[in-house]
Amino acid sequence: MINILAIESSCDDTSAAVIQNGIIKSNVIYTQVIHQKYGGVVPEMASRAHLQKILPVVDEALKISEISKTDLSAIAFTSQPGLIGSLLVGVNFAKSMALSLKIPFIDIDHMKAHILANLIEEPKPKFPFLCVTISGGHTQLVLCKNIDAFEIVGQTIDDAAGEAFDKAAKMLNLPYPGGPLIDKYAKDGDGNKFLFTKPKIENFDFSFSGIKTSILYFLQKQSKENPDFIRDNLNDLCASIQKLIVDILIDKTEKAAIFFKVNQVCIAGGVSANSLVRMRFKEMAYKNNWNYFIPDFQYCTDNAGMIAIAAYYKYLNNDFSSLNISANARSTF
Ligand code: KG4
Ligand code: ZN
Repeated sequence: MINILAIESSCDDTSAAVIQNGIIKSNVIYTQVIHQKYGGVVPEMASRAHLQKILPVVDEALKISEISKTDLSAIAFTSQPGLIGSLLVGVNFAKSMALSLKIPFIDIDHMKAHILANLIEEPKPKFPFLCVTISGGHTQLVLCKNIDAFEIVGQTIDDAAGEAFDKAAKMLNLPYPGGPLIDKYAKDGDGNKFLFTKPKIENFDFSFSGIKTSILYFLQKQSKENPDFIRDNLNDLCASIQKLIVDILIDKTEKAAIFFKVNQVCIAGGVSANSLVRMRFKEMAYKNNWNYFIPDFQYCTDNAGMIAIAAYYKYLNNDFSSLNISANARSTF
């Protein structure tokens, strides 16, 4: 039996999961609520909240899995990228626990883990496949040739897709994180009501900061004429902004998949929870006769289940970490 406990603490979710022979047995996620009133994640508060929550979250994950800590084969943790103080809580907790149990530990890259969330459940994609990773901090197109060969073929040159959703939501006076709220209000709106200019980026890279400025100027102009413009048009504004962001994401993904001649496409990261992203992603796959993969919702946003599956494959390769491994704010893959 290979039993691995995995810990994720890179941003504002404290999460622990247990995987047994490649099957997830528990995935406990505590999302820190403290940041809501500040309109974004406050790093120092995030580290403190991780410190308070890590022990109860790990305890619960072990309890649900019905696997005792003395039966663990290894402990995995997110080592990069993320908020350094938050990462350090998980790294040091995991290392200390593994040392006291005299078992190996495994460091995991959070961005790779988002992609590998697609391998948690059946049917699984087979290598090679293309994955579009869209989260609050990252937007990447990754060509996955095999478990050890991931190549970033495109990424954002400024804001991430989730950041674009959250910043647009803030302009609409919606609380943080605004992405899910834009999704909710867009359901009753017309996505073609307001048209914004799309960025022109030649290769497979993305840019979202220009659309933020064009939304801001548009709202300022309209609000001068009608101070209640945002309130009166909230649904149509949400639908139009959502369509704009999703058009950019899907266009690039389709072009990259055609260019790299893959017939399997995957999606990862918190923004893949967006209903229009999911719909348009499926339509794109049907149109091109590609197989598509979307992780279960709990494995899309930050979670330790994805760290656990990534660790399972490393365990099979005897790929363990050395004692001097630490946290890194940036991704090195
Ligand atoms: O992957 P994730 O949980 O955390 C990071 O690693 O960043 O992604 C969080 C991001 C936030 O920007 C949030 O607004 C966005 O995912 N998000 C959504 C939806 N659900 C989460 N954006 C649009 N529509 C959604 N339904
Ligand atoms: Zn993430």
